Amino acid sequence: MSFRLQPTPPARPNRCQLFGPGSRPALFDKMAASAADVVNLDLEDSVAPADKPAARANIIAAISGVDWGRKTLSVRINGLDTPFWYRDVVDLLEQAGDRLDQIMIPKVGCAADIYAVDALVTAVERARGRSRPIAFEVIIESAAGISHVDEIASASPRLVAMSLGAADFAASMGMQTTGIGGTQDNYYMLREGAKYWPDPWHWAQAAIVAACRTHGLLPVDGPFGDFADDEGFRAQALRSATLGMVGKWAIHPKQVALANEVFTPSAAAVAEAREILAAMAAATARGEGATVYKGRLVDIASIRQAEVIVRQSEMIGA
Ligand code: COA
Ligand code: MG
Repeated sequence: MSFRLQPTPPARPNRCQLFGPGSRPALFDKMAASAADVVNLDLEDSVAPADKPAARANIIAAISGVDWGRKTLSVRINGLDTPFWYRDVVDLLEQAGDRLDQIMIPKVGCAADIYAVDALVTAVERARGRSRPIAFEVIIESAAGISHVDEIASASPRLVAMSLGAADFAASMGMQTTGIGGTQDNYYMLREGAKYWPDPWHWAQAAIVAACRTHGLLPVDGPFGDFADDEGFRAQALRSATLGMVGKWAIHPKQVALANEVFTPSAAAVAEAREILAAMAAATARGEGATVYKGRLVDIASIRQAEVIVRQSEMIGA
């Protein structure tokens, strides 16, 4: 056990991040009216190169022109391997109102990528006198990103969240799939002739969760491309939640309710967590560090597990 306490991530709901292209401003009011906790207006890969300037202008107008309610408002800028990103940052920071909460940096490969954006953002913020600092969220979606995930997670105090981007990750890794997340037909184990499909995204998700928990960021699962497949989305999201992720992207509005359902601890889960806390309080009063709850061992670690669920539920309810 390290003597350093594990930092607490920002206490904000992040069950669903709804994306929409900056080149489709007709979607912005619908995104604002959705039940997503976070809105991500996109300047990157859902916007064609020729549309980047118009998309920037649409987003800048919408940041102050649309009522985003209590949502976290984020804009995904272009990657540092493009000629677009610096203009994204400068125009957003100079022209968009202070309602913008954060920018999302895609395809991050090393801590210096964050440093570069931080330096530019900090300079523009100082020049313009912004009332509150812009936060960063990043996407891990390359071989370099996952290899350097820990140094990336600690690269700037602006960082609040980190997502896995399955499609670009698969491409960068040379994975033989065009699917965006979910079960992959050719990734199976055989036992007595029967196939079983493990989760090819598992290790990357676990690495992201570990880096985020070490440095106090919110770990988030990225897109699930087949928006006709509700059960596939739910299965992927349930695995992510079980691994410690706090939310998932929606690339179509019908995925918002699915993500909210999975990442809101159920009433039954919260009730059980409270019962475990009560059982442990009674055990502690008896001078015992462990006891039995519904036939299974609960001990002081169970208090911490139960508190995760109760805290998440209280934060979402607040
Ligand atoms: N946010 C809010 N509303 C959306 C939306 C979004 N991202 N995408 C579609 N809608 C609305 C449509 O306008 C339509 O509304 P209506 O019923 O009032 O007409 C309704 O939801 C149904 O839309 P549908 O016709 O099924 O989708 P589409 O063909 O218009 O768009 C996509 C499908 C996938 C192209 C679109 O959802 C999209 O661009 N998603 C985001 C892509 C993105 O940002 N990718 C980057 C991150 S991976
Ligand atoms: Mg991507």
